[in-house]
Amino acid sequence: MPLRNRTTLTQYLIEERRRFPGSSGDFNALILDVALACKAIARAVAMGELGGMYGDHAGAAGAAVNVQGETQKKLDVLSNELFIRMNQWAGHLAGMASEEMDHPYQIPAQFPRGKYMLVFDPLDGSSNIDVNVSVGSIFSVLRAPQDVIDSGRDVTEQDFLQPGSQQVAAGYALYGPTTMLVITVGNGTAGFTLEPNLGEFMLTHPKLQVPADTQEFAINASNSRFWEAPIKRYVDECLAGKSGARGKDFNMRWIASMVAEAHRILMRGGVFMYPRDNKDPSKAGRLRLLYEANPIGMVMEQAGGRASTGRQAMLSVQPEGLHQRIGLVFGSKNEVERIERYHSEPSEQQNDNPLFAERSLFRI
Ligand code: AHG
Ligand code: MN
Ligand code: MN
Repeated sequence: MPLRNRTTLTQYLIEERRRFPGSSGDFNALILDVALACKAIARAVAMGELGGMYGDHAGAAGAAVNVQGETQKKLDVLSNELFIRMNQWAGHLAGMASEEMDHPYQIPAQFPRGKYMLVFDPLDGSSNIDVNVSVGSIFSVLRAPQDVIDSGRDVTEQDFLQPGSQQVAAGYALYGPTTMLVITVGNGTAGFTLEPNLGEFMLTHPKLQVPADTQEFAINASNSRFWEAPIKRYVDECLAGKSGARGKDFNMRWIASMVAEAHRILMRGGVFMYPRDNKDPSKAGRLRLLYEANPIGMVMEQAGGRASTGRQAMLSVQPEGLHQRIGLVFGSKNEVERIERYHSEPSEQQNDNPLFAERSLFRI
């Protein structure tokens, strides 16, 4: 293989840091520790059945169920431990929160505490592990509230409830045919490919841009009977193709690994929807705001795409709970804006009014 002078993740971070001459270097060290956790998870995932992490047929971690009421896989638990182990010791963090932990994780007493907080989904799409389909990790970096930094006190759930616009950095690792790390530190979105011989992430996709238009959408159509009217309308118009209102044919994809879908959309455009629906009124959507929607939202927006609840910009949502669920739409800007328009049009807002319900006086 010809030797190419590639930028490493370390070099990229150092060059980004030069924009802030006073910075301590803590932030860069934190991102490198996150990257190390992702490399370790990539190895565990790549071992598959051989790693002993599948165990029984379903790969479930005994009877463990996480705070979402979902069965934890052994690899979910291992990935969570790797994130903690790689990130707790260095003194950059005031605390952590994860999909796999009910409450915030406190930095143990033997380690110094720092000014950032790390929030993560250690293994996203883990229902795909047993079938050898791509999975990933998602992370978000927040600044700890000033009194936490000053006092070094334990973090509370409340400390994490910051809108996505406050994220200092966000990204994901994708464990696919190649392992990739895609990050934003607030100055565009960049993609790195793991060079397995050197164990280094190399900058292969600088300045990623999501095309504003697309003819590809992703949604779990088995939920269609529970969708709200604006989503039904959008998908119906896509399905009608050339002969319908959109006047063009659409293609559809559903991997059930959001990281893999986000990556496809970053590479070639598209729109992803896991909207709020009427399936389970106690859940405001399937995906989680703090460690799924917000970090993917920042990655998208920094690449010129858009992320939304359908009703408002995702990054402007004020979180109310650590494990809060939310409807998520992201990807090509013009399509996401169209979906937002469908939600805001008066005819759709009248849906709650019985006079405008299905088979009512005013609807045919
Ligand atoms: P997780 O494995 O962290 O619980 O998240 C899986 C998510 C997401 O990656 C994917 O888009 C979605 O769940 C798939 O949901 P369906 O099974 O409803 O298609
Ligand atoms: Mn997930
Ligand atoms: Mn997960």
